[in-house]
Amino acid sequence: MTDREVDMTTFIEVPRGLAGVIVTDTEVGDVRGEEGFYHYRQYSAIELIEKRDFEDVWHLMLKGELPTPAQREAFIAEVTPLRHLPKPVADLLPALSGSVPMEGLRTALSFAAANRGMKPLLDIDEETRLADTLFASALVPTILTSLHRLRHGLEPIAPRDDLPYAANYLYMLTGETPKPEHAKAIEAYLMSTIDHGFNASTFTARVIASTGADIGAALVGAIGALSGPLHGGAPSRALDALDAIGTPENIDHWVRDVITNGGRLMGFGHAVYKTDDPRSLMLRDVATRLGGPRVDFAKQVEKRVVEILAELKPGRNLYTNVEFYAGVVMEDCGVPRDMFTPTFAASRVIGWAANVLEQARDSKIIRPRARYTGEVPPVPVPTA
Ligand code: ACO
Repeated sequence: MTDREVDMTTFIEVPRGLAGVIVTDTEVGDVRGEEGFYHYRQYSAIELIEKRDFEDVWHLMLKGELPTPAQREAFIAEVTPLRHLPKPVADLLPALSGSVPMEGLRTALSFAAANRGMKPLLDIDEETRLADTLFASALVPTILTSLHRLRHGLEPIAPRDDLPYAANYLYMLTGETPKPEHAKAIEAYLMSTIDHGFNASTFTARVIASTGADIGAALVGAIGALSGPLHGGAPSRALDALDAIGTPENIDHWVRDVITNGGRLMGFGHAVYKTDDPRSLMLRDVATRLGGPRVDFAKQVEKRVVEILAELKPGRNLYTNVEFYAGVVMEDCGVPRDMFTPTFAASRVIGWAANVLEQARDSKIIRPRARYTGEVPPVPVPTA
């Protein structure tokens, strides 16, 4: 038995929610919660946002390195045509226009994978796996924006090949060429959410990939995990809370009311960060550059909520997470609230894909155990 294997006759107790448990090795990236730092491969994610653009980081995550200028050009030429919806997928979307966006996405992506004829990861080589992940990650923004427009009785807008990823996303959503400052702000948000350690949706994707299933299956499972409010479903709720608070005079009363009634303030707290979430700090700067009364109010709310949480929940170290300013930034740039979590999915699909590729190189299925706590078996089966 090696040190990576266990005696299957004994239970190993782990903390609830697997908090702090290392389940695999990874070169994709990591989060250092106590330091307020996270990285994509060997680079600080925040430094990448400052110095590179979305396509470079997409290349880094899926191909393992930042591109040279020639590789970058080739990569853009490779992924740009993949943004266009295959006709059978485009034909399916009107039937999904009544569903909420994350439901529509998971159904459409599942169909797109089947229509492409994706094969189980176990049966395909590295090159085909990479091609499948590029296909899926390039397509997600087009599926999302098309579904959004159909839901609102509008014609989907085809991608514009001359626009980079983030600007094209806003263009497909609104039908207008975005202002450069909006494209830049959304690009920063998208880049900041590509990957973030072994979060619930990434873990889900890797569990599915560990079974050897196809890439579509792994990504669709991850979309389901991300749709939960405790994971990716918070930014619109955080903005709803800002609206409900309404005025600076109302902050204390509203916030205390939520906490003393056992509620949670959306956009605050994080499973790993016990200090400022670096994404939140970066997005606060982005929001500040965009400016406006909403941003000023959000900063006031943040300050008071952090103070009140420190008073009512001492020692828990609760600060804003990525979702708090994400909502403010997205709304300022014209992304509607029901598209906040889907926009998160549009970038996180790249992180999932990088993790799926890595997991596929490991032949070990992820298969933990649960402690049975029901009535002591075997209870005789009652006759019918
Ligand atoms: N508001 C009020 N209290 C909170 C909050 C919050 N946002 N977050 C944690 N707490 C309190 C809990 O009530 C708990 O208090 P207790 O010790 O008195 O029971 C304590 O802090 C610890 O809470 P846990 O749930 O154990 O903390 P965990 O680290 O597991 O939870 C989570 C992290 C789920 C993000 C949590 O902070 C939360 O629910 N936040 C609100 C939802 C949110 O913003 N989600 C987006 C997360 S970011 C992302 O997924 C990309």
